[in-house]
Amino acid sequence: VVHSHVEQSIRPYIDLIDSLRSIGIQKDLALPTIAVIGDQSSGKSSVLEALSGVALPRGSGIVTRCPLELRLKKVTGGVNWKAVLSYRDKKKEFNDSSLVENYIEEAQNELAGKGVGICDELIILEIMSPDVCDLTLIDLPGIARVPVKGQPEDIEQQIKSLIRKYIEKQETINLVVVPCNTDIATTEALQMAQAVDPKGMRSVGILTKPDLIDKGTETKILDIALNKVIPLHKGYIMVKCRGQQQINDNISLEKAAQTERDFFQEHNYFRCLLNEDKATIKSLAVKLTQHLVDHIKKTLPQLNEQIKKQLWEVRNELKECEDGPPQDPKGAKQFLTQTLTGFIDQIKSKSSGELIVKDN
Ligand code: GDP
Ligand code: NA
Ligand code: MG
Repeated sequence: VVHSHVEQSIRPYIDLIDSLRSIGIQKDLALPTIAVIGDQSSGKSSVLEALSGVALPRGSGIVTRCPLELRLKKVTGGVNWKAVLSYRDKKKEFNDSSLVENYIEEAQNELAGKGVGICDELIILEIMSPDVCDLTLIDLPGIARVPVKGQPEDIEQQIKSLIRKYIEKQETINLVVVPCNTDIATTEALQMAQAVDPKGMRSVGILTKPDLIDKGTETKILDIALNKVIPLHKGYIMVKCRGQQQINDNISLEKAAQTERDFFQEHNYFRCLLNEDKATIKSLAVKLTQHLVDHIKKTLPQLNEQIKKQLWEVRNELKECEDGPPQDPKGAKQFLTQTLTGFIDQIKSKSSGELIVKDN
């Protein structure tokens, strides 16, 4: 479980964004968030799990089939773990973290159907706990190249266009998850992030599975981690999460964090990343919170402008009916006729003759 050293000054920004989100303002304004992208089985859910301290559905094949917004809220003052899962018009509150996996699966089955299909409807999981850091992250389906039985031929395109919808927003920080044991430079997820963010101003590279690399590739990977090969303005962080064996052995997330630290301390090549805060889930949590706050600070003036503009437009519309109907019956009748005629004219012009308005 991550205990981040979140500065006191950060909290108001996170709260502001979350309260804007909870009143549904994202329909009108794009709010800053962190999106997690990568190939299937690259380690996205493992990273989210380690950050949140919550077991999420994971494994081989397509597990994440709908976008999942994970809102982590650090609470103090004797409050225990508490969660709220919501999607469509449904809302479930619960206190038992072992229910998360099942509830998410249920929600996905309802939204995307049982099986292997995907869906772009959002599932929101809010977690309040003393042991999490203040972050809002979105887990997205992993990029799959070959459709499995029951998936449409164009599944790759479907997943990519769903991912693109999230990562192209200027307000989104893209967490690009890439396993160390693959050809990092040609990773699809990195290329997708580069396409929407050419300078890497809002993309962070997460290098996973450093314990599974081939001997002899260490210096090549280290160069990438040190931002020398595919430079991202926000750089890279290397993390080691629980492998399948550790999960089978029921190794706790806390124990896994200790194992992760030991792994880096004992590693001849990657040890140096620790001193530069470029390794471990814990460093990632601290950095992400800082990135998010920087991003929010940068976006706030823009949000302010957008809100002002919308307010101005609504006020202008209001002005037209400012005086309301006159008090005397004759004047009121005339006002009503005028308003109705204006309304009918608007409908006529918008429906360009298709709609026939009958007058009585
Ligand atoms: P996702 O499909 O991108 O969400 O990937 P998952 O998080 O489900 O991980 C896929 C598999 O890789 C799981 O079996 C994980 O246990 C394993 N895994 C993830 N991170 C690491 C790591 O750092 N080291 C090792 N050895 N295995 C990992
Ligand atoms: Na997976
Ligand atoms: Mg996953």
